[in-house]
Amino acid sequence: MIEELLQIKNDAISLILSTQTTEQLEEIRIQFLGRSGKLNIAMKQLPKLTPEERARFGKTANEIKNILEEAIINQKSKLKNQNKNKEKLSIDFTTPSIPPKIGHLHPITQAITDTVEVFKMLGYQAADGPEIETDYYNFEALNIPKDHPSRDTQMTFYLDDKEVQTNTPGEIILRTQMSGMQARVMEKMEPPVRVIVPGKVYRYEQVDASHGFEFWQLEGFLVDKHVRLTDLFGTLDYVLKALLGKNIELKFATTNFPFVEPGVDTYIKCTVCGGIGCSFCKNSGWSEIMPAGMIHPNVLRNVGFDPKVYNGFAFCIGFSRLVTLKYQMSDLRLLSNPDLRIINQF
Ligand code: DAH
Repeated sequence: MIEELLQIKNDAISLILSTQTTEQLEEIRIQFLGRSGKLNIAMKQLPKLTPEERARFGKTANEIKNILEEAIINQKSKLKNQNKNKEKLSIDFTTPSIPPKIGHLHPITQAITDTVEVFKMLGYQAADGPEIETDYYNFEALNIPKDHPSRDTQMTFYLDDKEVQTNTPGEIILRTQMSGMQARVMEKMEPPVRVIVPGKVYRYEQVDASHGFEFWQLEGFLVDKHVRLTDLFGTLDYVLKALLGKNIELKFATTNFPFVEPGVDTYIKCTVCGGIGCSFCKNSGWSEIMPAGMIHPNVLRNVGFDPKVYNGFAFCIGFSRLVTLKYQMSDLRLLSNPDLRIINQF
């Protein structure tokens, strides 16, 4: 008989502890402690017992009743606390969300994308090439032999070739100019050639407001029959006005690069100071933006084109300079500053 009571106690306790709501708990209470609950039904056997058994049975039943009542009270307060915590954690799915921060293209990338689009309209194809370059493509194919003085203007990062050891020291470099892609591309093509190659170049330079040790260039070149210098001027004028607006003022001057003859420097009236003179344009009022020229016959010969049949022009857009002029930034170093307060202004 006592075993029956203990069984009732154990069943009740495990059910009480597994309840999740106060309603379930109330059901369990009625099931075990209610007027026709299991404990009262068990008590109905009392008259059948001997007086001694009756006393023991009654005492045990009373103890069990107290234990179960206490367990119910404890469980009730536990459930109440749980509900309070749930309320705190509850999520309102209808609340408008915090808008996620959306990134955007870096101004240099934007400028490159825009420029490639302009050249595509003129029938140019875009190409890509390696940042780690050989001395041959970067210099020699461009009519710049090993002892040429113009190498001094392109302070070069030389790379170790310890692992491969197929090249003599000094042959592997970080490309200093995108012009190196002229030979790489033209070797694989037949005229007419109209190609642009955007990319990053590296120079061991003193860094200041208008110079960096790594910067972006876009090299372009066109080879065909009967190409004139005025075709080059027209192209540069069209492209720069498409990129910087129709109101910009340009001027051209002769210059010297070993891979072009004649060489041309394109200047734009400084957009930072409007031509008055500032540190960005070195007080000249003009900013050099796009060197160019008619491709030297030696460069054509190096890629197997007959310079008596074909000629062409090449040009180079300096992107860091272009972007700083476009947004009237007085310091080119701001473009490689990762501070989002700068980048998010574009
Ligand atoms: N590659 C030269 C440099 O980085 C720039 C240049 C000059 C490119 C004249 C050209 C050109 O295509 O015709 O200094």
